[in-house]
Amino acid sequence: PKLIVVTREGVEKTAEADTGLSVMEAIRENGFDELLALCGGCCSCATCHVFVDEAWSDAVGGPGEDENDLLDSSGHKQPNSRLSCQIEMSNALDGLRVIIAPED
Ligand code: FES
Repeated sequence: PKLIVVTREGVEKTAEADTGLSVMEAIRENGFDELLALCGGCCSCATCHVFVDEAWSDAVGGPGEDENDLLDSSGHKQPNSRLSCQIEMSNALDGLRVIIAPED
């Protein structure tokens, strides 16, 4: 599936993501270096914060409880905030667009 990534500079790029990868892994595998993903995807660092394009919020769904607590600690939380390591790429998300959140 395709994944559209908007960088912090506002540059939009389309990436190929393998199903089963997290959005965080797909972003990093495609050469974007803006996501630190310090904890490696185990939902404990919040450095993989993205905003989900509103057209995709229903398909992606909201954060889990622990994820939401982490997002609360971010100064940039929005209603469409998610930790990208907690979103799994699937064909249903083909064309998903995410915006990399500002650094805290
Ligand atoms: Fe650490 Fe997602 S990579 S919370």
